[in-house]
Amino acid sequence: MKIVRDPAELEFPVRPVGFVPTMGAFHEGHLELMRTSARENDCTVVSLFVNPTQFAPHEDLSKYPRNESRDAEMAEAAGVDVLFAPTVDTIYPRRTTEVRVSGVSERFEGEVRPTHFAGVATVVLKLFNMVRPDRAYFGLKDLQQCAVVRRMVEDLNVPVELRFLETVRESDGLAMSSRNVYLSSEDRAIAPRLYQVLARLASTLRADPQVSVQSLVEDASAQLGREGFEVQYLALVDPQNMEPVAIFHPGCRWIIAAKLGNIRLIDNVPV
Ligand code: PAJ
Repeated sequence: MKIVRDPAELEFPVRPVGFVPTMGAFHEGHLELMRTSARENDCTVVSLFVNPTQFAPHEDLSKYPRNESRDAEMAEAAGVDVLFAPTVDTIYPRRTTEVRVSGVSERFEGEVRPTHFAGVATVVLKLFNMVRPDRAYFGLKDLQQCAVVRRMVEDLNVPVELRFLETVRESDGLAMSSRNVYLSSEDRAIAPRLYQVLARLASTLRADPQVSVQSLVEDASAQLGREGFEVQYLALVDPQNMEPVAIFHPGCRWIIAAKLGNIRLIDNVPV
């Protein structure tokens, strides 16, 4: 596996090229994206870049876990051919242009983190232009990020095929996340409740598609509140446009964001 810092060195002798953008601190969720790309393409490129523009000033940019040599070993074992690990100055010599995707990026995560998705869309487009992949791989764990990237690719005619893969979980159901290491042992023990509640909401709605979504949301939020979560949002949405839906419709998903202590967890499940 080659480690590249300079985008001018991103030349690939074989195609198709699959691309997995990441911020490092790899876990099975990242590795599954890499292995899938390695199976489906002749060359797999992973970017490792902790993107400052998607963090608000009060967020955890400086504390974000970093360990390039461990990540490089894991990526190589997953079948990655090129690890692109640029510096902040390489990606952002200036910050005069930014990509904002209206609509899909405004609710939910966009309300709690108003500048986040402009940072994501801008860096993803820059990385696409540097790597010029045939296919790019994203995890549905970040459902709204998938919607924002999909809309940007459509709106700006970006020549890439997007692939979205289902969330990889710990054995107790907790969605894998680089931030899980910051949970206290008490909070780690109750964190899987988030997924259990979503899974129960999904099966309730499947069993009775006419049930009141509003009352399901109220009951589940109150329950999680009693168990120590601070629920920021819990909703049934259409993942194409991230609009809430009032009753079951094909493809809809339950989404949630909740804080446990200082740690913010997000998750979602299909119905
Ligand atoms: P990062 O959080 O490192 O995630 C990289 C990719 O891994 C994303 O597509 C994310 O959805 C996926 N992923 C994370 N946890 C997952 C899990 N448990 N199961 C499946 N996939 C999972 O997302 C970002 O980085 C950044 O916003 C980025 C797109 C790289 C732009 O900076």
